[in-house]
Amino acid sequence: MEPNLSVDFFGKIAASPLVLASGVMGISYSGMLKVVENGCGIITTKSYTVQRRKGHEGPVVAEFNGGFINSMGLSNPGIYEGMKEIADCKKRCDAPIIISLFGVTAAEFTELVRAVDSSIIDAIELNLSCPNVADEYGIPIAASTEKVFEIVSAVKSITKLPVIAKLSPNTYNVPEIALSAEKAGADALTLINTLGPGMIIDINAQKPVILNKFGGISGAAIKPLAVKLIYEISKLVKIPIIGTGGVLTGEDAVEFLLAGAAYVGVGTAVYYNGIDVFAKINAFFSSYLRQNNLASVRDIKPI
Ligand SMILES: Cc1cc2nc3c(=O)[nH]c(=O)nc-3n(C[C@H](O)[C@H](O)[C@H](O)COP(=O)(O)O)c2cc1C
Repeated sequence: MEPNLSVDFFGKIAASPLVLASGVMGISYSGMLKVVENGCGIITTKSYTVQRRKGHEGPVVAEFNGGFINSMGLSNPGIYEGMKEIADCKKRCDAPIIISLFGVTAAEFTELVRAVDSSIIDAIELNLSCPNVADEYGIPIAASTEKVFEIVSAVKSITKLPVIAKLSPNTYNVPEIALSAEKAGADALTLINTLGPGMIIDINAQKPVILNKFGGISGAAIKPLAVKLIYEISKLVKIPIIGTGGVLTGEDAVEFLLAGAAYVGVGTAVYYNGIDVFAKINAFFSSYLRQNNLASVRDIKPI
């Protein structure tokens, strides 16, 4: 019998536990459709703000031998344009869609949530953790148990959709923040957003590769940190975790499930390994399940 890769996602069936991470191809409906056609089970959109954001001037992405740094500056067309793309995607596929929202205050987040058409969205992810925008953004929210509690509670009080808190690795107290999000009613966590920011210098040009100088680190370099936080936090909270950070291969994805993730996010790997990375990871899941005499991906239990 073919191993079963499908999983429940808040009452919907997803064909695979693989989740497209926010910011990577989740902007146009054609990009979202393409990842689903290539085996991704659940889509996360780019993070939306209320108004359109142009983002930072390029270059905004640079590669090093452990992954990427990026400083996109949350470029996005604004939530209203974003909802149109999602509606077009939803007409053409059944995969669950998580809309990612980015604000700074609870009021900004609730304004965004009010703009979400809950009939076509399956969950809301709160990006509490972007390291790439000016100081009062991102880091203070992600590092404050109070702010995380306030924002998650405010959002929970106005929506019936499942709410996912996406946390940052850039603070010493991530487990405490995770507990605070759960206490505020979060239905799931995404761990982790990018690390840093970090910096890459072009030694020939003798200047930073990224125009904005610094960027969040993603890819293979952050994987052991993601695995550790997923392992630690999955033992503390009862809500499911979308484990994200440095998954490039099927082996990495199985490692995340063994660490305690319920779903596995894939971002930078799409740039590295192409869009068929989802199909390749699914094929590895199937062979791993066969080798271990397991019927379903849900039989891969956390260690
Ligand atoms: C180019 C790029 C853009 C990103 N944009 C977003 C974003 O808009 N919102 C967000 O929550 N995370 C964003 N991220 C972070 C990813 O969703 C993910 O958490 C992180 O890159 C770690 O996973 P990875 O190593 O598989 O890429 C972005 C990452 C990259 C590389």
